[in-house]
Amino acid sequence: MINKILFVILVLAAFVLTSCGGSSANPDADVIGTLASVPDEFSGQANPLGADAAAAGANVFRNNCEACHGQHGHGDGPAGASLVPAPKNLASLQTLAGDDYLFWRISNGKDGTAMIGWKGVLTDEQIWQVIAFIRTLK
Ligand code: HEC
Repeated sequence: MINKILFVILVLAAFVLTSCGGSSANPDADVIGTLASVPDEFSGQANPLGADAAAAGANVFRNNCEACHGQHGHGDGPAGASLVPAPKNLASLQTLAGDDYLFWRISNGKDGTAMIGWKGVLTDEQIWQVIAFIRTLK
């Protein structure tokens, strides 16, 4: 009997913890929606760098992206808290997006949002490095 009650309490506690877990500064960050199709010019591009480029990419991310997208890329950076639309949760996004999509968006930005195009600010190599880093986000 006591065991059963304890079990119910544990299940309830786990439920409450998981439902509070994704505490984004901007609740919009986790709403990914349907991804646009990648323009021909970018379509099919794959990261020429290996997974070990993620270490350099972590630096690129820290210096250029973290303020909005948050330390773990969850879209919860302080500079993104009041943006509409919110900086996206890149951990979720990367499970849906190909390398070509990420390279296109990071290079050209997204019209009508605070996401600027990084082409000209970052080299292609730095963009591929940050994509390698985004692939490590959970
Ligand atoms: C000024 C804040 C800001 C900075 C800095 C920033 N982003 Fe963004 N980012 C955004 C916003 C806002 C969006 C748009 C989200 C949307 O469309 O819903 C976005 C969108 C994106 C997307 C596409 C998401 C989608 O839905 O298609 C990617 C990928 C991305 N950012 C990666 C990066 C990377 C990598 C960097 C650093 C090189 C960076 N961002 C820097 C605010 C920022």
